[in-house]
Amino acid sequence: MRGGSQYKKKRKRGAERSIHPRNKYSDHPPDFKLLASLYPSFSPYVFYSRDGRPSIDWTDFNATRQLTRILLLHDHGINWWIPDGQLCPTVPNRSNYIHWIEDLLALDIIPNSHPNADVVKGFDIGTGANCIYPLLGASLLGWSFVGSDVTDVALDCAKTNVQNNPHIAELIEIRKVESYTGTREDQDELHSGVIESYHKLPILLGVVKDGEIFDFCMCNPPFFETIEEAGLNPKTSCGGTPAEMVCPGGEQAFITRIIMDSVQLKQSFRWYTTMVGRKANLKTLTSKLREVGVTIVKTTEFVQGQTCRWGLAWSFVPPSTKLVKCHVIKSDLSFMLEGIQRKYSAIDVLQSVESFFSSGGASCKSDVALFQINIRASKYHCDALLNDRTLETFKAQSCQYAHTTSNVSDGSNSLSDELHFRISVFQQIPGTLLVKGSLQQKENQGMLLLIFQHLESTLRNKFC
Ligand SMILES: C[S@@+](CC[C@H](N)C(=O)[O-])C[C@H]1O[C@@H](n2cnc3c(N)ncnc32)[C@H](O)[C@@H]1O
Repeated sequence: MRGGSQYKKKRKRGAERSIHPRNKYSDHPPDFKLLASLYPSFSPYVFYSRDGRPSIDWTDFNATRQLTRILLLHDHGINWWIPDGQLCPTVPNRSNYIHWIEDLLALDIIPNSHPNADVVKGFDIGTGANCIYPLLGASLLGWSFVGSDVTDVALDCAKTNVQNNPHIAELIEIRKVESYTGTREDQDELHSGVIESYHKLPILLGVVKDGEIFDFCMCNPPFFETIEEAGLNPKTSCGGTPAEMVCPGGEQAFITRIIMDSVQLKQSFRWYTTMVGRKANLKTLTSKLREVGVTIVKTTEFVQGQTCRWGLAWSFVPPSTKLVKCHVIKSDLSFMLEGIQRKYSAIDVLQSVESFFSSGGASCKSDVALFQINIRASKYHCDALLNDRTLETFKAQSCQYAHTTSNVSDGSNSLSDELHFRISVFQQIPGTLLVKGSLQQKENQGMLLLIFQHLESTLRNKFC
């Protein structure tokens, strides 16, 4: 008999959405019976239902901690432990975030400016006593990490977890976040507008050293404003101290600080990423990212049993010229809108597409019967649809591209007068729509790409 009831439940309900296809547990949920027979320290926590199904008491911290210890040991060769009460990670869920980052790094759109660097370098903000992301990232993918934290217990325990794994220890540095000294006022000025009550410890700025370059950062932030709000799920016991779970202003304040730091650090990171606990915050944070002129925003959903978390990623790296080139040949773009709320239909999505383009002044001719809209947008309309900085990036990019290729458009390096394209909406299965954009002329594919990304994020925020 395979797996615990909770893992089984997740697979039935969330099925393909709940677990990344490359996740070790995607096809093989943990086999509690086997693990109990192999590991005497785990066996006292495993019990069997009348029909012989093995499970553990998810409300017992000792049981969940043993399970994490055994899974890390058995499936990843990692020696791991945390003190009583510290946040205990679930291995399959944390692996999903690692694999999502792996997907982001593989995207051509945000090019790797250090393709010859031998090791991918990540920064785990708030690595915790459990140090789970560096341990998983190093053992699964050979990535190197800086893991930061502020509390002594987290720093000491994370270091012990690293030292107990000599095969990957060289890949992981645990870094203490120190209070600002002289430059703090400058920081505060930079961050004016961010919730000021947030404690004054830095997050990235002042922790990342001069000249350091990372492929990505990741963060499982303190989600809550109070420990009561954390309300720790009575159905499971994963521990979690106030220092780990709570910060003034909650995740919104914490992530806003990461965003403001990223505005300063810009291309020191190829991708900035974080988990978000509340969908409402995801929308606000995405809008904030648009305001600060990022070149791309990506989101994903992590389904964890009954709860949902979101992944938010952004970058300041200009979109790849390779991608512009590739879309010269292939002028269709598309994305899937999955998990559309029941109250919305394809018509609602079509109308929103129309409002999106009309708001920038573009002319739209919709054919509701065919679920299509034909759009004409001048460069001024495109300017209005994108923020100025994204547009500048595009122009710089298109200039650079025109210098390195000879067969693109008319070689004028600028947008031709009008962009003509068609957006079509196709129903796939209930709750899922395919949105396709087809350019009606050969030029300006890069511009359509940027607008299309913006449209994707707007529709996702509204309908999913
Ligand atoms: C929710 S825990 C995440 C722990 C671990 N990464 C995980 O996923 O289980 C948040 C962590 O952020 C740390 N933290 C809080 N403020 C921080 C800051 N300014 N810089 C770095 N870490 C911080 C906390 O001490 C805590 O360990």
